[in-house]
Amino acid sequence: MKKDKIIEISGLTKTYQQGGEQILVLDGISFEAFRGEFVSIVGPSGCGKSTFLNILGLLDSSYGGSFKIFSMEPASMSEEEKAALRLKKIGFIFQFDSLLPEFTAFENVELAAMMAGRPSKRASMELFSSFSMEKLMNKNPREISGGEKQRIALLRALRNSPSLILADEPTGNLDHNNALKVLGDLKKACSLGACVITVTHNLSLAESFSDRILELREEKLFTLK
Ligand SMILES: Nc1ncnc2c1ncn2[C@@H]1O[C@H](COP(=O)(O)OP(=O)(O)O)[C@@H](O)[C@H]1O
Ligand SMILES: [Mg+2]
Repeated sequence: MKKDKIIEISGLTKTYQQGGEQILVLDGISFEAFRGEFVSIVGPSGCGKSTFLNILGLLDSSYGGSFKIFSMEPASMSEEEKAALRLKKIGFIFQFDSLLPEFTAFENVELAAMMAGRPSKRASMELFSSFSMEKLMNKNPREISGGEKQRIALLRALRNSPSLILADEPTGNLDHNNALKVLGDLKKACSLGACVITVTHNLSLAESFSDRILELREEKLFTLK
């Protein structure tokens, strides 16, 4: 069976302008990712991991080279088209707490569906129960731990059944046990068919969860596993 290609990149370059200078961050990167795959990208701080993930997530459109996502070229899409694609097909998880503190955990998750025009309290409840997190539903983000918040943020990212999940150091602020839980949840999302791409500092955790590990080093991407 032909594998479903989610991302296809070749010769990707990215430079930032700083003062009068050009800083090269990505230098001719090629990369592919498929449905059901768990891919980790490791590399030291400042090597360009977030830059790369932002391009994959259609948050940054100033790059060179060829980038296709879901067989479409973001370079030829309008901002509205990209926003719609982000909302419906891409789930994001960031390192730092991003839940809205004035809403409950449940509302934070259901809001994602409302924004996509597909509200269903029942579907949100089912999501909480399939990840055994019913107990957290009615809690305010202020009342729950960092690890729990990250797991709720993941449910929110999963709420619209995205085909692609992008996680930027999702376990960066968590202890080992909570990191394992979050990665276990991501792995489950992956087994349900999503393509998961995470960026991490932690190579040993990446090794136990990933199908593939790539290292971003000196502006290039290398395969480690
Ligand atoms: N908006 C920006 N303008 C200029 N330089 C930037 C900008 N964002 C990131 N950089 C630089 O690009 C490099 C890569 O940053 P980043 O992608 O955040 O790395 P990582 O996520 O691996 O820590 C760093 O040297 C950083 O200082
Ligand atoms: Mg980063």
